[in-house]
Amino acid sequence: MEHYFTNNSNLKSDFRTINYEYAGDTITFTSDLGVFSKDKIDFGSRLLVENYLKRGESNISLLDVGCGYGFIGLTLAKFKNTNSTLIDINKRAVHLAEMNIKNNKIVNAQAFESYIYENVTGKYDAIITNPPIRAGREVVMGILKGAADHLNDNGTLWFVIRKNQGAETIMKLLSDTYSMEVVEKSKGFYIIIAKKLLTLV
Ligand SMILES: C[S@@+](CC[C@H](N)C(=O)[O-])C[C@H]1O[C@@H](n2cnc3c(N)ncnc32)[C@H](O)[C@@H]1O
Repeated sequence: MEHYFTNNSNLKSDFRTINYEYAGDTITFTSDLGVFSKDKIDFGSRLLVENYLKRGESNISLLDVGCGYGFIGLTLAKFKNTNSTLIDINKRAVHLAEMNIKNNKIVNAQAFESYIYENVTGKYDAIITNPPIRAGREVVMGILKGAADHLNDNGTLWFVIRKNQGAETIMKLLSDTYSMEVVEKSKGFYIIIAKKLLTLV
């Protein structure tokens, strides 16, 4: 069975356009077959972005893990002036993210392919993700727990997870690494901000 994160070079293209409006301005995304939520902005991703727009820091470095066509990282690059790095395992998603960087004339963003953090060398002030639940618990925990190694001191991890996809269990599993705050609950989606726990040396 093909998942949205499967690399399938035989898949044909059928581009579509998705707009997101904020503060009287618009960012336009090109999407395609074979990527997550190809026809409309996912509810959880939108809620996550709205929360970041409301309470997140501007002008910082940000890593969007599992970027898809780039909605989260590029919206924040445009409207919060984050220096956004976008990564995904799906080649087509990375290609779309690159197109969307160019078409929206965003200079403070870049995208590349990576399995979880495999190709990530830098550290970031914030990491943000709508994690790929269907890829399995190992990948999801790799992204969420692994973020701690790629955050600067005092960096924050922002993520969205559904209650019925194990939000409470995942938070328990992360509690040895982060202190966490659920900043919004809507329609069964939790928006969580996690701060790395300080380790005593
Ligand atoms: C829930 S989707 C979110 C997509 C996008 N951020 C959005 O909001 O529309 C999760 C993304 O994670 C990607 N993904 C799946 N497994 C991955 C892995 N092992 N490493 C990196 N990205 C992965 C998928 O290709 C997909 O684009």
